[in-house]
Amino acid sequence: MPITLDTMATSTLEREHSLILEVLTCMAVVADELDRGRSIEPDVLDQFVEFFRVFVEGAHIRKEETILFTALEKKGVPVNGCPLDLPRNEHLQGQALFADLIDSVSAYRAGEKGGASAVARSLRRLASFYALHTWNEDHLVFPIANKFLSPDDQDNVYEQFAAMDSENGAGFQVRFRNMARELVRTVSNWKTSVR
Ligand SMILES: [Fe+2]
Ligand SMILES: [Fe+2]
Repeated sequence: MPITLDTMATSTLEREHSLILEVLTCMAVVADELDRGRSIEPDVLDQFVEFFRVFVEGAHIRKEETILFTALEKKGVPVNGCPLDLPRNEHLQGQALFADLIDSVSAYRAGEKGGASAVARSLRRLASFYALHTWNEDHLVFPIANKFLSPDDQDNVYEQFAAMDSENGAGFQVRFRNMARELVRTVSNWKTSVR
C-alpha cells in the first residue's frame, strides 16, 4: 500500500490522541460539575472507565508498547533513551491513576462519603496527566519515530495496528468515536442547562 499521511503509523496514533483528548476534556468538565455538587449518573463515569480500559489501555497503548516501540527497538532506538523510556514510564503512571479512578467510581457508586470529591480528583489527575502524555508522544516520541522508520516500516506498523483493531471486533474505532461523541453531547447539555 502506498504510504500517505493518513496511513502513517504515527498519524494513526495522533488521530487516536485527538479522540482521547476529547474524552479528557469531558472528564475535566465532569470533575468541575461534581465539585459544584451536581449528581452525576454513575453510567457516565462507567463510560470513562470503559473508554480507558478498552480503548486507551487495551488498544492504543498496546499498539504503542507492543508494535511501535518494538519496531523502534529493532531499528536501534536505545531502550533506556527518551523516545522509549519516557512513554513506557508514563504508561505505568497512567495505569496507577486509572486504578485510582476505578476505586473512586466504586466508592461513588456505593454512596460512600467523599466519593464525589474522590472521583473529581481522580478524573482531574487522569485528564491532566494524559493531556501531557499525549503531548509528549506527539511532539517528542513520534517525530523521533518518524526519523527511524522507513516508509516500509511505517507501512508494516500501520498494518499491524489495523490487524489489532480487527482482532478487537468489527467497528472497534467507530464504537469509541461514538462513545466520545455521546460524552461530548452529555457535557455540552449540562453547560447550557440550568443547574
Ligand atoms: Fe502512550
Ligand atoms: Fe499515545
